[in-house]
Amino acid sequence: MTWSIIATWNFSIDGVKAAAEFVAKGGKSLDAVEMAAKYVEDDPAADTIGYGGIPNLEGEVELDAAIMNGEDLSIGAVMGVKGYKNPISIARKVLTDSPHNILIGQGAEEFAARNGFEKTILLTDESIRKWLDAKKQLAEISKENKGCNKANHDIYGHDTVGIVALDTFGKMASGTSTSGLAMKHKGRVGDSPLVGSGFYVDNYIGGAAATGVGEDIMKGCICFYAVQLMKEGYSPQEAAELAVKKIHDRLFEKNGKVGNIAIVCADNKGNFGGAANHEGFEYAAASDKTLPTIYKVKPVI
Ligand code: GLY
Repeated sequence: MTWSIIATWNFSIDGVKAAAEFVAKGGKSLDAVEMAAKYVEDDPAADTIGYGGIPNLEGEVELDAAIMNGEDLSIGAVMGVKGYKNPISIARKVLTDSPHNILIGQGAEEFAARNGFEKTILLTDESIRKWLDAKKQLAEISKENKGCNKANHDIYGHDTVGIVALDTFGKMASGTSTSGLAMKHKGRVGDSPLVGSGFYVDNYIGGAAATGVGEDIMKGCICFYAVQLMKEGYSPQEAAELAVKKIHDRLFEKNGKVGNIAIVCADNKGNFGGAANHEGFEYAAASDKTLPTIYKVKPVI
């Protein structure tokens, strides 16, 4: 039976392994996406996601996450959630148990509490150290730019775990989880919880998930675009490359610079691929035909 799971970055490999074993034994794609995301959310070494995520400017960890069911296109997303280390599971609860698609901030936290999620301290010694260090760097940049600072994209990462899964029933799901851009303004939301930008999936075609600078990724609705390319007949690898290149070129033409953009794509036949506009992007994937592997991606530009 055909199945696959793909997730952004090498830190996803343990989650991909666990989710691969799960779907291979008949587990559902929506559960696989949640499982793979939780592995990364729980890992303090993944410092842009969940527990140990780098805080915002004020020293608070604000998390965004989303999950989508390719069967009926239902969505659950949370934005700016504080004090809960598995926002992917809160997003899943929004999908299944709420009449809405998106809950933000305090509303999402109250929903989580009502549904039995436990509050946790998300800061670690390491994330506090990185925050203090980033504050110093930002102060320097701000001095150089005479108080105008649009440069905090470059201080630390913005890596999202973005996942697409196909189960043995031919059903697909996708999801994302992130603490967003390090040193972001309080209340800032990136691409990750935005349908079509950070993630998309449709059983009839395939799915995609993104990572990188949300401010630029969302300008191209890249995941919806990549899925439409697969609908037109492009393979997941071709769709990922074309989507990244088109959006990169469009932004570069007018702005002369573009933030990091990367996506992973998978179709409903078990094929997958990934692309980026920068060096260093890797993804983890497995399928009924390939063992869990970390793939290095060559930039498309
Ligand atoms: N891609 C993650 C973010 O920009 O928040």
